[in-house]
Amino acid sequence: MKKVILITGVSSGFGKQTAKLLSDEGHIVYGTVRNEPGSDDLIHNLKMDLTDIGSIKKTVSEVLEKEGRIDVLINNAGMHTGGPIETSPIRNIKLQMDTNFLGMALITREVLPIMRKQGGGTIINFSSIGGLMGLPFQAFYSASKFAIEGFCEALRMEVKKSNIKIVLINPGDFHTNNSANRRNFLAPTGINDPYHEQFEKTLAIIEKDEANGWEPEVLAKKIVKIIECRNPHHRYIIGSFENRLAVFIKHILPRKWFRMILEDHYKIN
Ligand SMILES: NC(=O)c1ccc[n+]([C@@H]2O[C@H](COP(=O)([O-])OP(=O)(O)OC[C@H]3O[C@@H](n4cnc5c(N)ncnc54)[C@H](OP(=O)(O)O)[C@@H]3O)[C@@H](O)[C@H]2O)c1
Repeated sequence: MKKVILITGVSSGFGKQTAKLLSDEGHIVYGTVRNEPGSDDLIHNLKMDLTDIGSIKKTVSEVLEKEGRIDVLINNAGMHTGGPIETSPIRNIKLQMDTNFLGMALITREVLPIMRKQGGGTIINFSSIGGLMGLPFQAFYSASKFAIEGFCEALRMEVKKSNIKIVLINPGDFHTNNSANRRNFLAPTGINDPYHEQFEKTLAIIEKDEANGWEPEVLAKKIVKIIECRNPHHRYIIGSFENRLAVFIKHILPRKWFRMILEDHYKIN
């Protein structure tokens, strides 16, 4: 059945691929972008910035006005910051939380009454494997995704009676614009930053993992299947065997052992 879908962040990566596949499947797709929307015959582009509540409200009401309903909200848009907790600039920290967590929560709040009144819907929220384990030098990114995890657990119970399904996506390493777009804070050489050397070493590993990651089409295909599924799971962990293994062993190993494995991977000494 043809669905009205609103997906955030379709200018690149997962959002772009998913919006395309969904519209190829015949769904009515509205995708948000931050820059002036270009013309696209199949995807209706709307200008929206997650850090601007006015643009969030405008986007949701535009879709409602045109279609009269929103069946699926895909909270895909997000950004990464990298840097030491102690020295990362406050503006990076705020941008990280305002985009990944607060923006996602605010657009969800706008869509909930619409789904409630129409008798149901599906909300798909992008967390990360970094939302299931704290990643060194990506602490604020991890924190923003852990926040999404807690938000979804609570939301699922609150909307139980309204037939609104809440689905979490935890991608592992994927090859998108994510690495190039990451706002890293690396103190200039010469400035006394006790983390500089370690962060550079760890960042090289993070970027290598992402460069060797899967292509976003793999995840986009999975999203199409989830949308077509009557009873989707609460969570989908999508990534390489190593990515999924890391999540599994976190649950079974003593915390200290798991931390040592992560430290070894990220060359923390
Ligand atoms: N790639 C991975 O390995 C990976 C792993 C785990 C989770 N994820 C998650 O997957 C989602 C998609 O990321 P991606 O890998 O596809 O990265 P991407 O290629 O960088 O795409 C991110 C999208 O989010 C948009 N965006 C960023 N800040 C925004 C804001 N303030 N308001 C509205 N839109 C904004 C970007 O728009 P602009 O073009 O305007 O910047 C872009 O369309 C994110 O939530 C990310 O955290 C990615």
